Amino acid sequence: MPSAKISPSLLSSDFAQLSSEANRMIKEGADWLHMDVMDGHFVPNLTIGAPVIKALRQHTDAFLDCHLMVSNPEKWVDDFAKAGASLYNFHIEATDKPLELIERIRKSGMKVGIAIKPKTSIDLIYPFADKIDLCLVMTVEPGFGGQKFMHDCMPKVKALRERFPELDIEVDGGLALDTIEEAAKAGANVIVAGTSIFKADNPKEVILTFRNIVNS
Ligand code: DX5
Ligand code: ZN
Repeated sequence: MPSAKISPSLLSSDFAQLSSEANRMIKEGADWLHMDVMDGHFVPNLTIGAPVIKALRQHTDAFLDCHLMVSNPEKWVDDFAKAGASLYNFHIEATDKPLELIERIRKSGMKVGIAIKPKTSIDLIYPFADKIDLCLVMTVEPGFGGQKFMHDCMPKVKALRERFPELDIEVDGGLALDTIEEAAKAGANVIVAGTSIFKADNPKEVILTFRNIVNS
């Protein structure tokens, strides 16, 4: 399995200090920065869009892992590419033309990810898994930070890992010191965490522990 990448979710940061929060996470050892984009339609919450990614890009060269919890993900590809997003993670539930979307994202120069909600069958991912850089298996219902990790999503991670040993498999939602082992054992190697990193007394230690457990 590919090596660990730890991607703190800036949803749990102080949005008023976004650039210093982002750079603080990189200093604490984060590999990527997870940016949660919500449109108030695909999910019942509203966050940030491409202008914020563009602004943040002026202050960091970090890998920006953008999680698009939006309807019509086709609509924002060019804006995110221009803004400096590194990875465009769209939801499989939000499009009927995943292949076309994958190609468009590739052409724009960003890496391609497909995200999947807890209740959606992993079978929907298989036809595309060799055409993408990453699959994001949600371990909570998307929309909010601070929710409880859903253990019943692990069989999806396991099944995907068995079929695609080299794929980056990302988990998002409720990842913490008491759930990381289960996720890593199932085959996840990209770990998103908001609450457990930002609320920690020592975020560096949490990031390091996540990395060691995934790589062990
Ligand atoms: C939820 C978001 C997550 C969220 C995770 O819809 O996709 O990235 O920030 O937060 P925690 O780690 O607190 O569950
Ligand atoms: Zn997310």
